[in-house]
Amino acid sequence: MSTLIAYATKHGCTEKCAKKVANKLPDAVELKNLKNKMDVNITKYEAVIIAGSIHTGQIQKEIKNFCKDNQDILKQKKIGLYICCMDEGEKAEKQFENAFPEELRKVAIAKGLFGGEFNFDKMNFVERFLVKRIAKVKESVSKIKEENIDKFVEKF
Ligand SMILES: Cc1cc2nc3c(=O)[nH]c(=O)nc-3n(C[C@H](O)[C@H](O)[C@H](O)COP(=O)(O)O)c2cc1C
Repeated sequence: MSTLIAYATKHGCTEKCAKKVANKLPDAVELKNLKNKMDVNITKYEAVIIAGSIHTGQIQKEIKNFCKDNQDILKQKKIGLYICCMDEGEKAEKQFENAFPEELRKVAIAKGLFGGEFNFDKMNFVERFLVKRIAKVKESVSKIKEENIDKFVEKF
């Protein structure tokens, strides 16, 4: 089975998780960063995993557009959806719901909240300020939930 992971990332965490998922899946997996503005022909894949990260409450617009533009064809495939974010529990679930259209959430066979990372080396001045002020975090931290990646891969 051929699988596509279509993702968007700001500081690399979603991409890191995409590589982890790809390494754990038994079949061939192609990774495409939707920020690279390429045309992605999804007809050739049997399965598609769509992934992005949450910044000030929102997933990347490239992910929103990809879901909207390909919704009908995506619904005919095996679908997985995950986000990277630092909020947990109900807040993370709400962000997930807001990130992907209901039509796709309903048919997805695997859904994941993979946690996230604050990477100060990759943040700009404004991002550093926001993270320090709002999240009250002052240095880089990784909270990737490996167990959630494993559960996601198992379901997929
Ligand atoms: C400026 C900024 C705003 C963020 N806003 C949120 C947020 O609203 N909710 C949340 O759960 N995580 C938030 N995060 C945490 C990111 O989702 C986390 O850093 C994630 O791992 C980023 O993934 P990426 O490197 O693939 O973009 C924010 C991070 C930054 C730097």
